[in-house]
Amino acid sequence: MTQLTFQECKTLIDEKITSFLTGERKPSGLYEPAGYQMNLGGKRIRPILTLMACNLFSDEVDAALMPAIALETFHNFTLVHDDIMDNAMVRRGQPTIHTQWTPNTAILSGDTLCILAYQYLAETTPSLIPRILGLFNQMALQVCEGQQYDLDFEKREDVSYQEYMLMIEYKTAVLQAVSLKIGALIGGASEPESEKLYQFGRNLGLAFQIQDDLLDVYADETVFGKAIGGDIRENKKTWLLIKALELAKGQRLDALHAAIRGGVSNPEEKYMRVREIYDDLNISVLAEHEISLFFEQAMLNLKEVDVTPERKTELKKLAAGLIRRDK
Ligand code: IPE
Ligand code: IPE
Ligand code: MG
Ligand code: MG
Ligand code: MG
Repeated sequence: MTQLTFQECKTLIDEKITSFLTGERKPSGLYEPAGYQMNLGGKRIRPILTLMACNLFSDEVDAALMPAIALETFHNFTLVHDDIMDNAMVRRGQPTIHTQWTPNTAILSGDTLCILAYQYLAETTPSLIPRILGLFNQMALQVCEGQQYDLDFEKREDVSYQEYMLMIEYKTAVLQAVSLKIGALIGGASEPESEKLYQFGRNLGLAFQIQDDLLDVYADETVFGKAIGGDIRENKKTWLLIKALELAKGQRLDALHAAIRGGVSNPEEKYMRVREIYDDLNISVLAEHEISLFFEQAMLNLKEVDVTPERKTELKKLAAGLIRRDK
């Protein structure tokens, strides 16, 4: 038995998604931006995780396909609203919905994606629906809680490492964790086995968000698909900033405080100043190290899953690719 590859999973997902939200669904003012968002060319990591987790336990992944689409649809809903909250103009190299259309359109088409996610989630093995729905709801609430912490933290300078970790666990990691757990359950995994995949996804998700924080400062904008420096502009409490606030002393700390307290009014200059401080403190190297620690923890979680090592090859490859990503 060979496992589905990343590309095979992605093709299954992409084909399914392009068959929805296109064509003549009315009103077009609602469905056109929703379809635009879904077809912008995301990496499709979460639904691929769902299919691969299912495929660990079962040769048949059909029953996981619509829940996988549900997780991608929910993810896109969060991105549409996140881009309003973060004043982000570009996503996946294209204008965000609230800039291409209006904030009202982004709110409502985002809501629509959230509701469609629930509709797709229920298109699976009927006996599993209550369990899957419970997991999904818990995750969805945590994402909202994480997003609220993210906003609250913009106004604070004393955010601790622990608070940051909880924030990213909720806003980012639990969605990847649940994507894996739901796939595993549909594939027939026991509760304890599916929980190991949850932990794998949680640690992978933590590494993923620290990597996202790093890319927000250092990526090549044309590859990353998002505007560089958005986190610095918005005073986001990222892994980098928390580490810099911990390590900077004397004049350097004063300069960092001045920049984040609005002492530099030009956003481009603010970005350059903060980035210089990160460079001086070697923050990117420290962040890479932290990313690899969470990645290694994720690998340990995967190792504990009770299926043959050969069945895990594709998931391992995906995880390794994620921490080396540039977008
Ligand atoms: C972006 O997620 C949101 C974060 C959790 C950092 P992705 O980087 O998976 O976004 P797409 O779907 O591939 O665009
Ligand atoms: C991602 O946080 C969390 C959610 C979208 C729920 P970010 O705000 O860092 O994501 P990007 O960088 O805009 O993709
Ligand atoms: Mg954002
Ligand atoms: Mg955000
Ligand atoms: Mg980000």
